[in-house]
Amino acid sequence: MALILVTRRRSHQSHSNGDPGWPGPSDSVRCRLTSGLNSVDAVSMVLSVRTGRADEIEPGGVGTVGDPCAGMSLGALLRGWRERALLTQEQLAERACLNVRTVRRMESGALLRPRVTSMLLLAEALELNGADRATLNAAAHGQPGPAVAGPPPVTVPRQLPADVAALAGRDRELAVVEGHRSSHTVPVVCVNGMAGIGKTALAVHAAHRLAPLYPDGQLFVDLRGHAPKAPVEPGTALARVLRTLGVPDEHIPWHPDDRAALYRSVLAGRRVLIVLDDAADEHQLLPLLPAGPGCLVIVTSRRRLTCHGDARGLSLDVLPVTAGIALFTRLAGLDRRAPSDVLAEVVRRCGLLPLAIRIAAARLRARPAWGVRHLLDRLACDRLAELADGPHSVAAALDRSYDRLPDEQRRVYRLLGSGGRAGFGADTAAALLDTSMPRARRLLDQLMDAHLLQETSPCWYRMHDLVHDHAAAL
Ligand SMILES: Nc1ncnc2c1ncn2[C@@H]1O[C@H](COP(=O)(O)OP(=O)(O)O)[C@@H](O)[C@H]1O
Ligand SMILES: [Mg+2]
Repeated sequence: MALILVTRRRSHQSHSNGDPGWPGPSDSVRCRLTSGLNSVDAVSMVLSVRTGRADEIEPGGVGTVGDPCAGMSLGALLRGWRERALLTQEQLAERACLNVRTVRRMESGALLRPRVTSMLLLAEALELNGADRATLNAAAHGQPGPAVAGPPPVTVPRQLPADVAALAGRDRELAVVEGHRSSHTVPVVCVNGMAGIGKTALAVHAAHRLAPLYPDGQLFVDLRGHAPKAPVEPGTALARVLRTLGVPDEHIPWHPDDRAALYRSVLAGRRVLIVLDDAADEHQLLPLLPAGPGCLVIVTSRRRLTCHGDARGLSLDVLPVTAGIALFTRLAGLDRRAPSDVLAEVVRRCGLLPLAIRIAAARLRARPAWGVRHLLDRLACDRLAELADGPHSVAAALDRSYDRLPDEQRRVYRLLGSGGRAGFGADTAAALLDTSMPRARRLLDQLMDAHLLQETSPCWYRMHDLVHDHAAAL
């Protein structure tokens, strides 16, 4: 290795004499050059430098490398590797301690036979592996490269899950998501609402419709803010997304802040639609927001999140009765026709909550002996027990919202469940919680942020029926 370093230095000195614009390699590059090469590289490098093939040859000189039969040209290879490493020509030149003009001329094909030292510096700066170095070496000598023909193509990500067959009763909300634009920063729509209200369904449906406007891809990231396990760490989510966007593992920085910065760099100038599903809080969300106006982000969360900039909050309410009936009859099967008042009662007992309606419909469909009235009777008894079907369960979904509450809010939630179903004022809550009015209001606000309580008019509150059932059963 010492020999290599000495040889390189001499080589550099001899070239730099006649080329004042040619910067010498920095110490750090020298270190990387000597420590990062394997023995084959080292021998090849020493031989190359010693045999004096270090003259740069302009087009029209000796041979060409643009022959399509010889595989990719030197310029195309370099450009591909540089883009794979997410470097501009200037950044690559700086990293390799080369003049940016040299890099430009190589990529454009104006410089066909570069100095060996230039190639080595570039190979180091691009962190090429042995096979890629061999390809580069061959291209620089006008020979056909080995089988490896440059960096693999990056697949445009199309990660959206399947759309719902028909989205019921969300025309106004769809218009809000689809109409949100921004000219100077990334547009963000934060869809929030209680468990099972249809946040993911709306986000995915809107994303499918908007996908043609985002040709550089659609990302779907499940942040698991309310999954049984802990929410996904922002750094982990960033690493996954970076990989999806074509960044090789070895280029993903260790520190989450650097990952976030790289993520913003990669997305700069691209048109990508990003769905961030089930965000736990702002801490998890913010690193995943790109910076430029070319992307669109749709966030879903059970919490009312405060996003900065051009974020638009959209709170989902339960479905209108007609949309609830349409959803129920479609999912229960067309032959399950029933009087509309019975159907209306069924969907009301489901609290007009899409998740509950879907479970009720699935249960009816799976039990041919039941009629709609029988289902209604069952829902009149133990509703939460009825609204469970395999892995889908309203109670389990609410459990996860409850589990995420701090202890004090859990206590408030249970106490409110022990009260009546009707609406109540802040004074009633203060008496029930045995605290002052301002503090009671603050506590109620926090439950509202988690969508476990609604404020139907100023300082007048009520729990959704299914939430009340859940809180009462704890
Ligand atoms: N408007 C809707 N039309 C049709 N199906 C819906 C609608 N909203 C929700 N669903 C269905 O209800 C279930 C719960 O919705 P989901 O989007 O997962 O709720 P959330 O994300 O708010 O917890 C899913 O199976 C979903 O497909
Ligand atoms: Mg969801």
